[in-house]
Amino acid sequence: MNRPFDFRRGGYRLPLRAALLLLAGLTAGAPLATAAPIPVDDHSFGCISKLTPVRGFFVGNLLGNLDGTLKVARSPTGGVYPPGSVVQLVPTEVMVKQPQGFNAATKDWEFFELDVAKDGSKIRKRGFAEVVNRFGGNCFACHIKAKPQWDFVCETGHGCDTIPLTEAMLTALQHTDPRCPGADKVSAADAAALKALADLQKAPAGGAKKN
Ligand code: HEC
Repeated sequence: MNRPFDFRRGGYRLPLRAALLLLAGLTAGAPLATAAPIPVDDHSFGCISKLTPVRGFFVGNLLGNLDGTLKVARSPTGGVYPPGSVVQLVPTEVMVKQPQGFNAATKDWEFFELDVAKDGSKIRKRGFAEVVNRFGGNCFACHIKAKPQWDFVCETGHGCDTIPLTEAMLTALQHTDPRCPGADKVSAADAAALKALADLQKAPAGGAKKN
């Protein structure tokens, strides 16, 4: 495009076309080539404790890059999780990192809510900023509050509002994931924690109440 002012020969068309193409790219929100989405279906998920534990939660990687995921999960200063990362705290809620450029608002995290049973998982809901869990809570609205270096991972002390579940309740949910072998043998401590959780969900106030 060395001749942008070559009016005689209609040379203005080239810069115009380039500008239109650029505009189209920007409007699509994808000025750079975006990698194909990582396919995720019911069979992408399984027994939570077969993932790799990191402090209280579990991680995996659908593209086989577990080392990359663990590096960020274990970093004391945070980082950006690589594509394919799977993060779970409870059996029914999952975050999966899609390739860069997939969704700017969620930093490419796709949120999932699952139904889990002995014979496997069923995706009940999936998506980005719009996914609401079975208690009426919007995944994105809570997880966006994590300070940027934690890449949407809340844990405790990362800036998110806390959830009303104790550590005993969370581990009881993990131990009784019906997709795991032996999940039906419930310890007395886990049974007590699950009972307290059920009572909490019946209570009229609190973050876990359906609205
Ligand atoms: C009421 C706010 C809230 C809502 C709604 C919520 N979360 Fe979370 N989530 C949290 C908090 C806080 C933690 C950390 C809890 C802890 O470690 O004790 C957490 C933990 C997690 C973790 C483990 C990694 C981490 O961030 O610590 C995943 C994965 C997760 N949530 C996914 C989801 C998905 C998927 C949904 C929607 C289906 C969802 N969450 C809805 C607040 C929320």
